[in-house]
Order: sequence, then structure tokens, then C-alpha cells
Amino acid sequence: MCAAIRHRRSLRVTLCLASLGAAVACAASQGAATTASPGAVATAAPSAKAVATPGTAVTPAGKPPTVGAPGIGDPDFPFDGNGGYDVRHYTLKLSYDPATRRLAGSAIVKAKAVQDLDAFNLDLRGLRVDRVTVDGTPAGFRREGDELVIQPAARIAKGARFTVQVDYGGEPQPIREDASLGVYGFIATTDGSFVTNEPNGAKTWFPSNDHPADKATFTFEITVPDGVTAIANGELVAERKAGDGKKTFVWRERHPMATYLATMMTGKFEVRTGTTGKGIPIYTAVDPAFRGSLGYLYEETKRLTDHWTTVFGPYPFSSTGGVIDNFTAGYALEVQTKPVYGGFVPRTGTIAHELAHQWFGNSVTIARWRDLWLNEGFATYAEWLWSEHRGEATTDQIFRQYYTQASDQIWRHPPAVARPNNLFHASVYKRGAMTLHVLRRTIGDEKFFRLIREWTGANRHGNVTTEQFIRLAEEISGKRLQELFDAWLYQPGRPAQVP
Ligand code: TRP
Ligand code: ZN
Repeated sequence: MCAAIRHRRSLRVTLCLASLGAAVACAASQGAATTASPGAVATAAPSAKAVATPGTAVTPAGKPPTVGAPGIGDPDFPFDGNGGYDVRHYTLKLSYDPATRRLAGSAIVKAKAVQDLDAFNLDLRGLRVDRVTVDGTPAGFRREGDELVIQPAARIAKGARFTVQVDYGGEPQPIREDASLGVYGFIATTDGSFVTNEPNGAKTWFPSNDHPADKATFTFEITVPDGVTAIANGELVAERKAGDGKKTFVWRERHPMATYLATMMTGKFEVRTGTTGKGIPIYTAVDPAFRGSLGYLYEETKRLTDHWTTVFGPYPFSSTGGVIDNFTAGYALEVQTKPVYGGFVPRTGTIAHELAHQWFGNSVTIARWRDLWLNEGFATYAEWLWSEHRGEATTDQIFRQYYTQASDQIWRHPPAVARPNNLFHASVYKRGAMTLHVLRRTIGDEKFFRLIREWTGANRHGNVTTEQFIRLAEEISGKRLQELFDAWLYQPGRPAQVP
């Protein structure tokens, strides 16, 4: 899905995959030796790339081949996502058997070419690919690291819509690489699966354009043994017998979603559904080990979803919810429409955090990972707001405490330059939230909350960068804020001036 990056005053640029590279590293792509794909390749880190696809050969027709880039153009994650196309919809028809830990099925990816394509990539890690078709015709394919390189029988023309089907299966393995993260991706549990993809673990269970700059809608058709429940994003639209002692759960996410927010939680669950006071459908589920907390999860999710609509603007999705699984991940993830909590009963502040992400991160989505503070700084500030709203510590008190007591690590590390090897650094969360508080005290409550609602409204279901937030803050406040943001977001050291 094309991400509309809006420059409020002047131009409105439609930011597709192709132009993300340009948005992220314009100068680099100008200067880099361009390949056959005109202007389209994400050349953010050309030297780091062992280009996986043929680049210079000439086709029988005499025209230079055009191949989709193996990365979408994120300078910090050069191989995440892919170039050359824009995904519209994923249909994942998958069966999972907790006893054998085997996942099998088909991913059907509907996309639009943004350049001529003789070949293009999907991201897929592990698993075995049996067959690939493009528009129903068998296509060539090969594996190169975490890239699935696909060669359609005929060139796909720029602008054409096409459908890729990948039949695949195997035992998914999670990723354990990032020290700041622990394990993520598809994790097998004793009774099913616990699936949290941030930042790039979607590729552990389905072939995808695995980067938040390419959001798409999703249909999940998940078949599991009788007695097992399958939970995914959006709403449950059908539940049917699949024969053979199996059952299929069909879930649909109608709003654009980043791949890192997709899930398939399977296992034994107790479920409670209903509607919030403001009329938003809610689906909550807990592993039987957390049976006693289902009511609490349901009630807190309900009141916090409604509460945030009064602060951040209209709820961006068609339902809300949450899932507590009996897998000790030690973290929660803001899975779109239903955050998941890994092996613990979340504090109300944690529920506030994950639900705030439905606006900040899930609806308004970053276009590159270094801007992660736009997710975590806002979700952390939401925890502070919730504390203040409930008559506990005020935002001023919490700010003061961090300002005077935060570790040296936080002052050494500026939050708006999230690093690939330590993406979820505490500074991204805490100093990100401190930045918002300083901004609020500088421009006043009226303008600050207007800015927040304008940010979520104008960028609803879109992609954004920090530069856009700064521009909007200056526009709404009528103040020059470069110095404030520079000191708080980009420079090491503790900013001397606080309001
Ligand atoms: N975004 C999560 C939060 O702040 C934390 C997180 C980061 C995470 N990476 C993850 C959770 C990977 C699960 C998997 O709430
Ligand atoms: Zn978070």
C-alpha cells in the first residue's frame, strides 16, 4: 500500500517503495551508480549489498532487465523489505499443528509493480518453498539468505497489478539476534504459537515485504486441531469445520498494517468479546493459566481504548482487544487491534502503552526504523498521561524524576537516531517521552494536544518521519523549535534548558 507522506504546507508526495529510498537517502541514490531500474531502486546502502539479482545481463528482447531491489531503502536495515512493488493485500492460508510444530500452506500476495519487473524479492527466513506462481503461471525462484528471489515467466510491467502465490511449509524458527530484544518472530509454545514480529520477524512465518514502509491489508485463514483457538489481527469473520478433526479460523484486518504487527496466536484460550462504551468491538483472550485475569484485561482494554479516543482522536481500527499467553516472553507487543502480553498480567500502564501504539506506530507508522521514538516515545508518554489522569504521579513529577535521575546511557544516546544493533534502547522510550513533555510545556497544552490530534488525523494509516513531526509542531505552535528538538532528539548529552 502506498504510504502518503504529506508535506503540509507545500507539496504532497506519494511515497511508494520506490521513493522511500529517495526520501531516506536522496543524495545517495542520486549519486549511486543506478542500475537498470530507473530511479526506483532503493540504493540506500549500495556498497553493503551483495546484490542478489542479475543486474546487467540483456534479455533476448534486447531490453535491459529490471529487477526489484533486495531492500526497501532503510539505511539501517539494507535488506529489510524489497523494492519494485507495493503490496496491497496478503492472504495467508496456513495450517499449524502444535504437536509437530509444522506450519504449511500458501501466502497469496497481491501487489502493484512500481517499475518493470523481470525479478523481484520477498523476505522469507527458513522454511521450504515448494512452488511459486505469478498470476497463476509457475515462476522460477531461489533462496539467497533471507531473500526469496522470484522470476516470473514474463516481465511484469510498471503499474501492473499482479498476484504471487507461494506454497511453503516447515518448522518456523524465531530470531534471536538482537541483544536488546530477545526472541521474536514465530515462537512455538507447548499448546500453539506466540508470534511477535517487531522489527523484522514476519519473514519467519510468511513471505512478505517485511518493512513498515509497505503496509497492506490482510486475510488469515488458519487451520488448527479441534480444541485449539487461532487468533489473528482484525475481526473474526468465520469459524468453520475443516474436517479431519480440524477447524479453520478466518480473520480479516481491513486497515493497512505493517508486517511487524501481524500475528497468529494459537493454543488454548478463554475468550471474552463485547463492545466498548463508544461502540468499538473488543476481543480479549487469555491462556487458561491466566483465567483469573480475563475480566481485568477485558475491562482495562475497554476503558483505555475509549479513553485514548478522547485524547488522541478517533480509534483508527475496526476493533480492539488483547491476548495474554502463557509464554514467558517478558515483553508485550502492540499487535494491531490486539496487543499480546507474553506470560504476565500487564499493569494498567502497560495496557495504556500498547493501546496508545494503535495510534502511534500502528496507524501512524514510521517509514524507517531510526524514527522509532515516534512509536515508543509517544507510547511511553501515554503511560505518563494515564498516571496523571488517574491521580497518581503527574507528568511533571515523572519528567523531573527522569531528568534528574536518568542513567548516563540515556544522556549519551540521542533517541531519534535509533541504532540497528540496539533498536529498543531505553533512550528511545524515556528520552523520547521527555522530549514530548518539554515540547508540551514549551507550546502549552492547547497547542500540544491539537498537534497530537492533527498528527494522528493527517497521517492516519500512513507513514511518517521525525522531520514531518517537527514541521507540524512548528506550524501549529508558530514557534521555531529546531533547537529544542535538536538538543532533545539528536545531540548526545543532557539538555541544559528545561521549561
Ligand atoms: N514494541 C514493544 C513495546 O514497546 C517492545 C518490543 C520491541 C517487542 N521489539 C519487540 C515486543 C519484539 C515483542 C517482540 O511494547
Ligand atoms: Zn512500545
